[in-house]
Amino acid sequence: NVESTLSITVVGASGDLAKKKIFPALFALYYEDWLPEHFQIFGYARSKMTDEELRNLISRTLTCRIDKSENCGDKMERFLQRCFYHSGLYDSEENFGELDQKLKEKEIGRQPNRLFYLSIPPNIFVDVVRCASRRASSENGWTRVIVEKPFGRDAQSSGELTRCLKQYLTEDQIFRIDHYLGKELVENLSVLRFSNLVFEPLWCRNYIRNVQLIFSEDFGTEGRGGYFDNYGIIRDIMQNHLLQILALFAMETPVTLDGEDIRNEKVKVLRSMRPVKLENVVVGQYKGHSKGGKSYPAYRDDPTVPKGSITPTFAAAALFIDNARWDGVPFLMKAGKALHTRRAEIRVQFRHVPGNLYSRNFGTDLDKATNELVLRVQPDEAIYLKINNKVPGLGMRLDRSDLNLLYKSRYPIEIPDAYERLLLDAIEGERRLFIRSDELDAAWALFTPVLRELEEKNISPELYPYGSRGPVGAHYLAANHNVRWGDLSGEDS
Ligand code: BG6
Repeated sequence: NVESTLSITVVGASGDLAKKKIFPALFALYYEDWLPEHFQIFGYARSKMTDEELRNLISRTLTCRIDKSENCGDKMERFLQRCFYHSGLYDSEENFGELDQKLKEKEIGRQPNRLFYLSIPPNIFVDVVRCASRRASSENGWTRVIVEKPFGRDAQSSGELTRCLKQYLTEDQIFRIDHYLGKELVENLSVLRFSNLVFEPLWCRNYIRNVQLIFSEDFGTEGRGGYFDNYGIIRDIMQNHLLQILALFAMETPVTLDGEDIRNEKVKVLRSMRPVKLENVVVGQYKGHSKGGKSYPAYRDDPTVPKGSITPTFAAAALFIDNARWDGVPFLMKAGKALHTRRAEIRVQFRHVPGNLYSRNFGTDLDKATNELVLRVQPDEAIYLKINNKVPGLGMRLDRSDLNLLYKSRYPIEIPDAYERLLLDAIEGERRLFIRSDELDAAWALFTPVLRELEEKNISPELYPYGSRGPVGAHYLAANHNVRWGDLSGEDS
């Protein structure tokens, strides 16, 4: 029985994602003893670097868990000693052949499993996959490849990319990351739904008025404009992160917790959705703004953004699922950069209590009397349910209050980064949190027509000031569907 060893190659090792997320996540896994006993990590990129230089580069971004920092320095050193570097071109089979040799030297005497993390621009995905699969695949263990969006720009280019990747890899070998699926609260969505009696019976059109999926960032594209301008916020956030959350939120109960069973249900719900219509979309773009003596740039001021760009940095959309559970329930999405706050959350607004005995307490604003469940994905993970409660005292006055599960109070631990969970799952061959190609096709089918229409009609985004709450068009869109955005109610802290 030969012992196995794991070789992880980070392709694009000197890039931002690798430095900020992947190496730190690998170290965190090592630190917490989640990595197998025998492993080695290779960085691969074009720039010339020695192993020592790579170690220096990544050591700057590694951090220790606050609660266990005693022997962290030692562990970091031991981790760095397992990191190596190979410089090569992304389309050179020969260079990947050299990498293969170096990997073999480290793997000697053990059964090698190989994981490639492609932290590179999409236009070179296929080259790297070709070279790696032909020249650096494991001979008698598994070989897996992690890829990260963008997976094309629309249904057609995404399908093309999938076809090209499948010339060299089987679907089982491809791990498409959507890092939102690795976030704690998103993982918890299924637990909340399927292991508590009190939610699932309400999880349908009879009790839920609307669902809101909200993503906002309080900074702009900041130097990433070159990438961003080619995609825009709908492709960057909605078609993947928010839609994935929606699918988990709305899917039927899977047969088991097996990755294929879960992904089958996600595909079903995505395929039950109506493609998004232009009339159900509002787009915006941030403009410059001065506040408190400080000035904030417009999107178009970013030197990497083409002059006069009309790429949206904000979008709101109403989506519908045509199935028995969700018929007629609007799912509203909102995503934007350079807004007033950084936050990602799911808000579920419930229907009115029929014949509410206490309606006079709410005056004419009956919306105020309805329950709302909020899952705050970040920052400060929390789940809270807004309920009506009697204000203590002799009178009969009602108050909106929260049943509140604030993670930092209940679980005073550091929550692992999404990349830690996803890397570990890829190592363990757990596919539940990765996107299968039919899911990706279904996701693109929903957004491709409207993306094309926005581009063909040159629809200008509504400008909103940097640091504001976004364009007012988002309110009108919501109002058209009898919805009021929950995050603007002013009730939440
Ligand atoms: C990425 C987007 O997928 O997610 C970025 O490309 C965005 O534009 C980022 O900033 C947000 O991720 P997180 O985990 O910081 O919320």
